[in-house]
Amino acid sequence: MTSRFVAGRTLAEGVSVLKNLSKDNMLGTLDYLGESVMNLAEAEQSRDSYMEALNRIHHENLSASVSLKLTQFGLDLSESACRENVRALVARASQIGSRVEIDMESTAYTDRTLDLVKEMQTAFPGHVRAVIQAYLFRSEADIKSLSSLNIPVRLCKGAYREPASLAFPDKADVDKNYLRLMCLLFSEGNYPAIASHDESIIQAALRHIQEQNIDPTRFEFQMLYGIRRDLQRQLVSKGFRLRLYVPYGDAWYPYFMRRLAERPANLIFLAKNAIRA
Ligand code: FDA
Repeated sequence: MTSRFVAGRTLAEGVSVLKNLSKDNMLGTLDYLGESVMNLAEAEQSRDSYMEALNRIHHENLSASVSLKLTQFGLDLSESACRENVRALVARASQIGSRVEIDMESTAYTDRTLDLVKEMQTAFPGHVRAVIQAYLFRSEADIKSLSSLNIPVRLCKGAYREPASLAFPDKADVDKNYLRLMCLLFSEGNYPAIASHDESIIQAALRHIQEQNIDPTRFEFQMLYGIRRDLQRQLVSKGFRLRLYVPYGDAWYPYFMRRLAERPANLIFLAKNAIRA
């Protein structure tokens, strides 16, 4: 079950998945799994692992980016150390024509994450991407501010537990806001990424793209590795760009648990397999 969502424990396994995706005309973004680190030495190890990933992407001539979380680079310990770690990666991404996608964590980090993305865009324009969560009330203002700086945005629904004072508590409102923000990104954004497995969201995006005659090279869809593979194939067969988020590494457990929690059917599947084993 884990291997359905996680490429493997090593970079070699992550790269092997990227190569297979490329055969299927899909793009990838590599995520070296890990969240908050305990000390700055661990943060530097994260930076070195991502540097190795960027170097492999370059040497294998893969059309891929990397995705990372700032807490993995020491944001809770030292903002300046975190900034220097990330700067080294964005600098490398700019040398090799790749991009660093900065995942969005809980609202405790939103301002600091967006500030750092903006700083990186100023230093290395075009080599960083921000993530905006549709469940947050603030997201429309954030999209406007990022778009004015030409920063590409990945739009997702949001995966953390947030208070009702900051985020829509009801899924229907999150979905409605997602569609509103998606239209805003299509009109004002720079190369947005529509990140969702929700069929009704994808259908609405396809209708909007057709109605507004939006060129398919001006945006991409994104999905998580192993989720809704049927939808993934459909989008690619229609000629749309699709990038899969490909996690790898030893620290797979929290990521795997989040994916299980998102969908009760995954737990049933897991239980059935455990009984069979
Ligand atoms: P929804 O949750 O409504 O699911 C729609 C359908 O998708 C389900 O009915 C099911 O068919 C399928 N599905 C969804 N999750 C599944 C699962 N785990 N297993 C099997 N089927 C599943 N969040 C965040 O807070 N910060 C971030 O940086 C990112 N980054 C990110 C990158 C990419 C590429 C994606 C696709 C998603 C994220 N997310 C994220 C996660 C996101 O916020 C959200 O939690 C999940 O994508 C689930 O939301 P959906 O849009 O898929 O809709």
